[in-house]
Amino acid sequence: MREYDFIIVGSGAGGLSAALHAAEHGKVCILTKRTAAESNSSWAQGGIACVQSEGDSIEQHVSDTLVAGAGLCKEEAVRTIVTEGPQRIEEVINWGVHFDQREAKDGHLEFDLTREGGHTKRRVLHARDATGKELTEKLIAAVKANANIEILENHFAIDLITTAKLGFVSEDRVLGLYVLDEISGEVAAFRSDRVILATGGCGRVYLYTTNPSIATGDGVAMAWRAGAAISNMEFIQFHPTCLYHPQKRSFLITEAMRGEGARLIGKDGKDFMPKYDKRGTLAPRDVVARAIDTEIKRTGGPCVYLDISHKPREFVLEHFPNIYEACLSVGLDITKERIPVVPAAHYQCGGVLTDVNGATSIRGLCAVGEVGCTGLHGANRLASNSLLECLVISARAVKHMMQKLPLGRPVAQIYDIPAWKTGNAVDVDELVVIYHNWDEIRRLMWDYVSIVRTSKRLQRAAARLRNLKREVQEFYWNFKVTSELLELRNLVETASLIVECAIRRHESRGLHYTLDYPVLDESRPPADTVVRRY
Ligand code: FAD
Ligand code: SIN
Repeated sequence: MREYDFIIVGSGAGGLSAALHAAEHGKVCILTKRTAAESNSSWAQGGIACVQSEGDSIEQHVSDTLVAGAGLCKEEAVRTIVTEGPQRIEEVINWGVHFDQREAKDGHLEFDLTREGGHTKRRVLHARDATGKELTEKLIAAVKANANIEILENHFAIDLITTAKLGFVSEDRVLGLYVLDEISGEVAAFRSDRVILATGGCGRVYLYTTNPSIATGDGVAMAWRAGAAISNMEFIQFHPTCLYHPQKRSFLITEAMRGEGARLIGKDGKDFMPKYDKRGTLAPRDVVARAIDTEIKRTGGPCVYLDISHKPREFVLEHFPNIYEACLSVGLDITKERIPVVPAAHYQCGGVLTDVNGATSIRGLCAVGEVGCTGLHGANRLASNSLLECLVISARAVKHMMQKLPLGRPVAQIYDIPAWKTGNAVDVDELVVIYHNWDEIRRLMWDYVSIVRTSKRLQRAAARLRNLKREVQEFYWNFKVTSELLELRNLVETASLIVECAIRRHESRGLHYTLDYPVLDESRPPADTVVRRY
């Protein structure tokens, strides 16, 4: 059994920055299910929203976040994250991260801030159109250079071990995790009194998504099974502009392109956004994604278009070199042609319910980044606020743990943690069943639980997911665990939570839009949807 002062699950922006903070206090283990570089964070394009210019203010950033969040943001969380942002940006720069700069009028260098939907000011720090790659590469280098951090790749966290799971009825606290070594196939218990979930989101629950394959909702599913409170899972953000091309299905076209003047048009070449919102193409994402969905259904076309071809070629190449190359690789020259785009599942605004320190309802367990629900995003996330949240909450989580669970009095040791039992489980003999169920979940979520919902479709999805859950559970008990099986188990759990939360919300708010309750419920104060297993 391995033992650490801190165990961090996930090597995205949240996990890496938590590890660097935790390593100041003790021994840290990062568990990550693929290579360290595979994460949503490393795919981030647009940048990190943070007040940096004189013409901007904390109040303005807070206000833009609250407006986008459609009445459900927790103002304390918004204010804390926005206020502590500049300090965290300084920190990542010290860890080696470089953001684009430009020469100001008086000749000194300043950040080249870009703009995205819902922001009333330019405040998005970026590294060309590949901010996430720059951020994670530098953070991974800092982690690897730190003697207090061990990073274990191909290690899949299966489930949390808690006092409640072991049958103790006193205070519920975390004791560690069961972890699959994907190379050897062995499962071992890892002990720690301080566990940070930084497992990211669940975009892969949907057929069409901007997310890489790691985004299977593992953290939410694990926390749910352990009895933690889960909140607001109905608010799944669909990014308005994912490239529509058969050879590149999950490729995002950054919103910063609209911030730099790209037009969103129908196949007739007309800008349709003013019809839907006076903020036009820079309205918040929920509004733009719904407008595109309506246009696609109205015209019967498979997609709409984003057009930046009116901008000088040099401008496009300088600002969007990666997108240019990626599109060119499938025969599309964005300096000359319009880009076919469709909305796709992008971000999980809900998650494991936490306070503004990332603390969950289980002692010793924090959730940071996309897996957590601090209240920053409310019913709809403001663009580029998520990397900011990763950096601020990871630092706060470590500080909070050091205050509440100081090192030197290990609790996990006094509990006898049972070894993982394989029982009579045999090797999976029919992978086809796993793949079939996986496809079915993603298709049904896309068809029944996407941008526009109805109560009937949600009920249908719930019924089908109940059956799928039973099948997957049988598989889980009868066969030796593999990462495919574990991801399927988490996927069906997360999908069910999205549906359950969506069914409970009898109104349309932010990203949750249903034809059966098409307006806000103003008869009572806005409330989170909170669900717990026990
Ligand atoms: P992730 O970066 O997703 O990391 C999760 C980690 O957990 C991964 O290492 C994964 O392998 C690991 N993991 C998961 N489950 C397990 C398990 N069971 N066991 C072990 N390891 C596990 N946000 C912005 O603010 N600005 C942007 O410009 C931006 N652009 C984006 C572009 C794209 C294409 C995408 C997909 C998202 C973008 N976002 C952006 C959102 C943002 O990238 C994510 O919300 C954020 O990076 C999440 O970071 P994280 O650390 O919480 O999780
Ligand atoms: C983008 O670059 O459009 C993505 C930004 C985000 O999701 O915050």
